[in-house]
Amino acid sequence: KSMLLWQRTAFHFQPEKNWINDPDGPLYYKGWYHLFYQYNPDSAVWGNITWGHAVSRDLVHWLYLPIAMVPDRWYDANGVWTGSATFLPDGRIAMLYTGSTTESVQVQNLAFPADLNDPLLLRWAKSEANPVLIPPPGIGLTDFRDPTTAWYVPSESAWLLAIGSKNDSMYHAGIALVYKTNDFLTYELLPGILHAVQGTGMWECVDFYPVSTEKAEGLDTSEPAGPTVKHVLKASMDDDRNDYYAIGTYEVGMNQWVPDDPEKDVGIGLRYDYGKYYASKTFYDPVKKRRVLWSWIGESDSERTDLKKGWASLLGIPRAILFDQKTGSNLLQWPVDDVDELRMNSSDFTDINLAAGAVVPLDVGRATQLDIVAEFEIAPSALAAAVTEADVGTVGYNCSTSQGAAGRGILGPFGLLVLADEDRSEQTAVYFYIGRRADGSPITHFCHDEIRSSKASDLEKKLYGSIVPVLDGETLSVRILVDHSIVESFAQGGRTCITSRVYPTKAIYGATRLFLFNNATNADVIVKSVQIWHMDSAFMRPFDDHDDDG
Ligand code: FRU
Repeated sequence: KSMLLWQRTAFHFQPEKNWINDPDGPLYYKGWYHLFYQYNPDSAVWGNITWGHAVSRDLVHWLYLPIAMVPDRWYDANGVWTGSATFLPDGRIAMLYTGSTTESVQVQNLAFPADLNDPLLLRWAKSEANPVLIPPPGIGLTDFRDPTTAWYVPSESAWLLAIGSKNDSMYHAGIALVYKTNDFLTYELLPGILHAVQGTGMWECVDFYPVSTEKAEGLDTSEPAGPTVKHVLKASMDDDRNDYYAIGTYEVGMNQWVPDDPEKDVGIGLRYDYGKYYASKTFYDPVKKRRVLWSWIGESDSERTDLKKGWASLLGIPRAILFDQKTGSNLLQWPVDDVDELRMNSSDFTDINLAAGAVVPLDVGRATQLDIVAEFEIAPSALAAAVTEADVGTVGYNCSTSQGAAGRGILGPFGLLVLADEDRSEQTAVYFYIGRRADGSPITHFCHDEIRSSKASDLEKKLYGSIVPVLDGETLSVRILVDHSIVESFAQGGRTCITSRVYPTKAIYGATRLFLFNNATNADVIVKSVQIWHMDSAFMRPFDDHDDDG
């Protein structure tokens, strides 16, 4: 029972036990944030998929509710799979989800709350009309899943929604199909496809939503495209198990979405996260006028260990999503501000000179639950001098194929070592590495190094990362959430994000420490500031009747 207990997280959403994967149908209703999720009630591995259910007042503290839907009909007998919620003008909530039938065919089904007066939405009624959608001609019977939230199109007097699939006769293209409906019972497949990208394979958990290019606010899903509204198309690539997005223009009349930059199209360009991050889904929060992103974070330990632990996977910290008005070419992702409620006492450090080769402990005591905000600076003269120096390590640097935190370049790596023990026999490195483009100009990489994260074998320990845009005059900044076995990092205000699952054996409980490091051979790095908060634990427990008071 006490097996590996320290790996449980304290402020990330996890069921009490067993297996969780995708977030489903997130929504806000009568004072509660609702979260549904792919859940195996019987075991810590995938299977018997139901919809687990939990509610929260603030996206931080959670109350577990009874399972919302189980596989009890022929059309979902092999699993109540991923789906999304749409609010109808009459106040109803249409929940569309994929069912895997007795024959393992993927069909779309409809469910409504059985009692709209119940703020907890405890009971769900599956429609008599199910299945409401079956795979259309030319689409594989097992390649048709995960309907999006629908958006209303006044010119059509109809709702549209997207479903991911693939087309192997089109060079293994991932595709998004769009259906039109008035009543969510009958549907018409629109001619053409919203978008296709060759070579990307099956698109799971497609998400499609508007972003404002001028306001720092989220938009409701039905907000039409316009001069200041672009659309994000995201798909979870079954082939490489990563979530890719691109920003583009939605031409509703043409049933077409066109990426701003074809070289950064869906599946070949930007990712929400360069670590462990999959099957994510956004929803619009009308209370705080924001678009919130939820994601499934899988394990990188073995199935054997998961069974021993009795649980597997968790959800990432919900992130507010904005268009990056400064770069104009990426999203910004940031932990929802509700998470700041968990911040307790903070330690501040300023103007630390990190000499080449230095490792500096940050004395904050137990470092298992932290929120860290750090800002680094390199003198422009040092930067200019260093990037002109010939160094094979700087041009074409790549986090994943590098030597990680141990490899030494002229201008990196430098950053933080989290979930470390006193003598750093275990550590997870979060760092920057400034390289050069072929033309000599600097380019900043942001990486995680998990190689020394645990003494345990039987784990996947990786080097993760990508480049992060740094504009003229900006310092380098990173926010890191540390929670026992997960590290989530947000560089440059959330332009590039990385999530790691790590399983220290020594850096646990009171033995966990935090360090700054600079493994660059040349530049002195100035740590302008580091602010570190200990994070309180969020409460997560079964709902009881008193929770409803007020
Ligand atoms: C993504 C996914 C979805 C499917 C669900 C089944 O992780 O494979 O495509 O609906 O999980 O649990």
